[in-house]
Amino acid sequence: MDNIKYENGTLYLLDQTLLPNEEKYITPKSKEDYFFAIKTLQVRGAPAIGIFAAYAMALLDENKESLKSYLDSARPTAVNLSWATARMLKAYNEGKNLIEEAVAIHNEDKEMCRKISEYGLSLLNDGDGILTHCNAGALATSNYGTGLGPLLLGKEKGYNFKVFTDETRPLLQGARLTSYELEKAGIDVTLICDNMSSLVMKQGKINAVLVGADRIAANGDTANKIGTSGAAILAKHYGIPFYVLAPYSTIDFSCETGKDIVIEERDGDEIKTMFFEKPTALKETKCFNPAFDVTDSELISAIITEKGIVKQPIKEGLKKLYD
Ligand code: MRU
Repeated sequence: MDNIKYENGTLYLLDQTLLPNEEKYITPKSKEDYFFAIKTLQVRGAPAIGIFAAYAMALLDENKESLKSYLDSARPTAVNLSWATARMLKAYNEGKNLIEEAVAIHNEDKEMCRKISEYGLSLLNDGDGILTHCNAGALATSNYGTGLGPLLLGKEKGYNFKVFTDETRPLLQGARLTSYELEKAGIDVTLICDNMSSLVMKQGKINAVLVGADRIAANGDTANKIGTSGAAILAKHYGIPFYVLAPYSTIDFSCETGKDIVIEERDGDEIKTMFFEKPTALKETKCFNPAFDVTDSELISAIITEKGIVKQPIKEGLKKLYD
């Protein structure tokens, strides 16, 4: 099932806020509809946001420079968003066909995901136990995904993985999206709460951790969904490889380290009220709701892009990719 479809001049978006209970496509029309879809996570996952925003730049009859700034402001951490809108603005200034450019971004993502999945799969063995966090699958990209790509490709090639997915508080991308995607693909998946990953690692059930990323600094620090850095620290403790999978466009060489990455902060009510019948804390209770945290480069065993596998020392490996 495609999360983003462009057919006969109309863009269809699978509304991820309704999953796994309802599979419904929406058709954004105005710039506000596109902004709302990105902000509220009807479309989410760094590459998917970029693809969606590229279509917005192509389809909306608006001043392209202001449209770019408006869309970019919807989610500040995922670099793929501003990367895609910058590419579309350049195409506009060069007089290119914008629909063709958006379709090219979409198709290139499919190729990238396939390559990332192949590289990732080369690091795994049949029967491995895998931990993943958030959702870095086809829903977050165009197909296969990044963090889930090796699992979905591996399934096609006859591998049998045993996957544990953290539910990923507060917006439950692991529970709502990853378990949904892996179940549909016929992959063995077990849902756990975020605070259970240490136990399954200790029990020897995990051979590798696979996650996506929203922005990667030049030194290899990576911004990933909130909670990912905890899994990386645990993996280091238990001697389990921790792999970050992302397109090359996720590397932001203008950020020297993770300290330069702007972390999106979301409404604290997401913690208290979303997915619960009744609020779980008093209205006046303060919340702190950062959407991402930064995983230090030294905790990462390898960063896998479509250009290959970068192992430690990661900073030097990324620099070689850039040069
Ligand atoms: O807030 P989200 O759901 O957009 O966060 C998504 C993630 O953190 C993904 O793991 C990341 O964007 C990589 S998606 C291939």
